[in-house]
Amino acid sequence: MGEYDLTLRNGLVVNGVDAFEADIGVVDGQIVAIAAHLSPGKRDEDCTGMMVLPGGVDTHVHLDQPAPGAAMCDDFASGTASAAAGGTTTVVCFAWQEKGQSLRKVRDDYLQRAQKGARVDFAFHLAITDPTDSVIHEELPQLIDLGDRSVKVFMTYDGVRLQDREILNVLAQAAKHGALVCVHAEHHELIEWLTEQLINAGLTAPKYHALAKPMAAEREAVGRVVALAEASGGHIQIFHVSGEDSAIEIARAQENGRPVTAETCPHYLVLTAKDLDRPGFEGAKFIFGPPARTEADREALWKYIKDGTIDVISSDHSPFRYNDKNGKMVAGDDAPFNKIPNGIPGLAARLPVFFNEAVSKKRTEITDFVRLISTNPAKRFGLYPQKGTIAVGSDADFVILDPKRKITLTNAMMHHNSDYTPYEGYECVGYPVATYLRGELIFDGQTVTGAPGIGRYLSRKPYLTPRKTSLLDQT
Ligand code: URP
Ligand code: ZN
Ligand code: ZN
Repeated sequence: MGEYDLTLRNGLVVNGVDAFEADIGVVDGQIVAIAAHLSPGKRDEDCTGMMVLPGGVDTHVHLDQPAPGAAMCDDFASGTASAAAGGTTTVVCFAWQEKGQSLRKVRDDYLQRAQKGARVDFAFHLAITDPTDSVIHEELPQLIDLGDRSVKVFMTYDGVRLQDREILNVLAQAAKHGALVCVHAEHHELIEWLTEQLINAGLTAPKYHALAKPMAAEREAVGRVVALAEASGGHIQIFHVSGEDSAIEIARAQENGRPVTAETCPHYLVLTAKDLDRPGFEGAKFIFGPPARTEADREALWKYIKDGTIDVISSDHSPFRYNDKNGKMVAGDDAPFNKIPNGIPGLAARLPVFFNEAVSKKRTEITDFVRLISTNPAKRFGLYPQKGTIAVGSDADFVILDPKRKITLTNAMMHHNSDYTPYEGYECVGYPVATYLRGELIFDGQTVTGAPGIGRYLSRKPYLTPRKTSLLDQT
């Protein structure tokens, strides 16, 4: 007995292309066999009635990161506990440069902290906020060579945004050395102008956040950065697409053959701008950028998910505590909307919320779901086939999901350090009951069992430029 360290038996195994009943055998953290019947492993789990999916890959996660005046509340240990509890086994987070800092030193410090704390595997996007000559010409190529093959740039937010000319420099250098550039696309001056008008008129409640950051700001910036990428030869992924107009811009760019892909997040599929209008200061819990939009936008996003315009679902986990002087209340409990930190926690909720919206509500097939939350993000960011699929030779990262389990989300289930979840009270059908990282149980359905430090750094080799494929083309 015990040819395998672990066997998962009798489950419905799902990867990005098909679903079939099979046993899976694991040795030394890797999948070594997938067959109708395998002999029992040293650890033998009966998955009858369960779905066995590749561990989630979340390619937009903020951990241990500064925020102007406030503090994001998850470090690598707490943030990746939340990942494990939500069936995610790989996170791509940010090595976040602040003005004046060496990008190399920033990345080395993040690596050290992540190696101590992470309970799931991790890679880094290089968030460039100070693109000096040495950062662009010396440090960026070095770091891309070391395997940090994605970059994030911001078109808005004081202190972090880049000018268009600086974005061109980043895009050109990233293209030359083989990195993907992820973009926060919103028109800064338009938002500043609107914010000023609203504040001067005394319209300061959280709900005015949505008016200050309208779709026009996002749509314009998406169009502009597509043009910058066209001119520089860079490859881009538009982060957190919030609604129809910017999805249309992206679809048009893709039809014209531009190397542009896009992600959206569960919050754009289940929340709307109306959530900012909750009683008192509660709307602050829903302040993130770009903001959630209308019900029509929410529905429209599905069209662009189904046709492949948007092919990645990430969490944009950017957690603040609500009732906290370092969190949403940094400027008081009745602060104007423009003084409330942008960002919400979402790592643990990503899989169950998206499963419920996509699969339980019959909008997509289960294989589509797997591609959107695991396979595509792994491919887009150079982690496939080590991550993102169930195949012989791939890492033995699994989420065991009970597709019939009915559950109401609460903050305690998120296992993060925030004192709230924007999904409190959300009812799901389907929920993760166990998570395995390289064959080790890291979440048993109740408790996070993965220890800090078990997560490994993933250095990424050069990978293919993303191209649009519709859900139909991918099957
Ligand atoms: O509001 C958000 N999304 N905060 C996190 C930072 C970002 O823009 O990705
Ligand atoms: Zn962003
Ligand atoms: Zn983000």
